[in-house]
Amino acid sequence: MAADNNPWWAGAVVYQVYPRSYADGDGDGVGDLPGLIGRVPYLAALGVDAIWLTPFYPSPLNDGGYDVSDYMDVDPRLGTLGDFDRLIGVTRNHGIRVIVDLVPNHCSWDHPLFKKALAAAPGSHERELFLFRDGRGPDGAEPPNNWPSQFGGPAWTRVPDGQWYLHLFDASQPDWNWRDPRVAPMFEEILRFWLDRGIGGFRVDVAHGLFKDATLGDAADASLTNRPSAYYHRPEVYAVYRDWRLILDSYPADGFPGSRTAVGEVWADSAETIAPYLAPGGLPQVFNFELVKSRWSAPELRAAIDATHAFADGSRAPWVLGNHDVVRPVTRWGKDAARAAALLLLALPGSAYIYQGEELGLPEVEDIPAAARRDPTFRRTGGKVVGRDGCRVPMPWLAGGASFGFSRTDLGFTPAPPWLPQPPGWGAYSVAAQQGDPDSFLSLYRTALRLRRDHPVLGAGALRWLDGPEGVLAFVREPGFAFAANLASEPRPLPPHTEVLLASGPLVTDEAGALALPRDTAVWLAQ
Ligand code: NOJ
Repeated sequence: MAADNNPWWAGAVVYQVYPRSYADGDGDGVGDLPGLIGRVPYLAALGVDAIWLTPFYPSPLNDGGYDVSDYMDVDPRLGTLGDFDRLIGVTRNHGIRVIVDLVPNHCSWDHPLFKKALAAAPGSHERELFLFRDGRGPDGAEPPNNWPSQFGGPAWTRVPDGQWYLHLFDASQPDWNWRDPRVAPMFEEILRFWLDRGIGGFRVDVAHGLFKDATLGDAADASLTNRPSAYYHRPEVYAVYRDWRLILDSYPADGFPGSRTAVGEVWADSAETIAPYLAPGGLPQVFNFELVKSRWSAPELRAAIDATHAFADGSRAPWVLGNHDVVRPVTRWGKDAARAAALLLLALPGSAYIYQGEELGLPEVEDIPAAARRDPTFRRTGGKVVGRDGCRVPMPWLAGGASFGFSRTDLGFTPAPPWLPQPPGWGAYSVAAQQGDPDSFLSLYRTALRLRRDHPVLGAGALRWLDGPEGVLAFVREPGFAFAANLASEPRPLPPHTEVLLASGPLVTDEAGALALPRDTAVWLAQ
């Protein structure tokens, strides 16, 4: 197949949907695919190019669906494969692609193959699909090595016959043994299953995991590091992605121009660690988490952006402000800063991901009662790590009413309460409350996305920094576009421009009567 030099994903704006929290189409208090289908016109009006669906597969939900018990089906609480196909059809009619989440590092302890492995004897063929080992110490009562679980506690759990199995995450998420020759073909079949249904690609969960040090010996540094270690960034993993790339590239465009993508969730310590994933023939894309990790500081953000450009531009490493795993930008940085950051995100070269609710300026919900919390990190750390439920609270669509329009109310019965409680006042953030207000978050995102579509230099391309006054982050996208944000406390002058296209907040005038940028405000300028 001919090389695709300008793939659709290089400049795409992708909207992340956490389906259980998006829209509930059957009144059971859990978001589902029919609910999402009903909101596709909203996404089309917002102006996104694609959606990324976090897992919707059958799952006992010990980790929000990242514990998959069947990779080739839809959880009955979320719908059916027929609903999925309908989603593909409806999104396609609106020119929107669908990226699905692939979870290759681990499955659920409810996966039939793990159940078979548990029922089989130590050393059996069945157990070889996972990482079972004898323990250490008297009676093997100590875990086989010192590796930690990302969610707290050891990465090993003991089974009744005395062996232990490895899980880098929750005990309900046993890691696959990628050194077993049956695992790679199984995942290739899964890839083809979804590609055949017409998806635009995959988001690859824990893409830096999969292979573990073959000896499963103690890690020199048994902390939760993103550095190459006994369990992350093992070089064997790159060959998996080369094989997947061949599969992706072998698929026809299927009604859309351009190739399918796979974007790896690769948490890494440096550009050097990320680079091999993006080597020719490897993953098309990996997430760029620099903006998530950065504080709201002009030099820090500039360094974060430059660090990425050292190995790839945003077309290979899409920009992200938040996702379902991190504290919402409004709470991390403040409301004004989050508005300015939205304009930064969408002005940077390449692709950008928006997590549902970012366009509404949803804050982190910090006071979810302990009994309502679902994130396994909360349980595994005895509540010391509060976990990620606060960014997963169901969407407010209406200013009032049961669950603020999250669940349908026209079904002839009162819908069940949402699976995670929404705080009082959530309706003030709703789509209905914001859509007629030109100063709302939603209007800012809609306008920015429209301008981005219309402005030829936005999306994939290059940037050139402008050296502005202290506290100002500014660059040009040539020809004709400039971005500036003021992170200092005093107002700062705007860079040269012919027109202010969009501002994240009100501008002020300086003593000479010229427009100036107040603190935590960003502008898009025509030059
Ligand atoms: C990353 C996912 O984004 C997160 O939600 C999940 O808990 C872990 N991977 C484990 O699958």
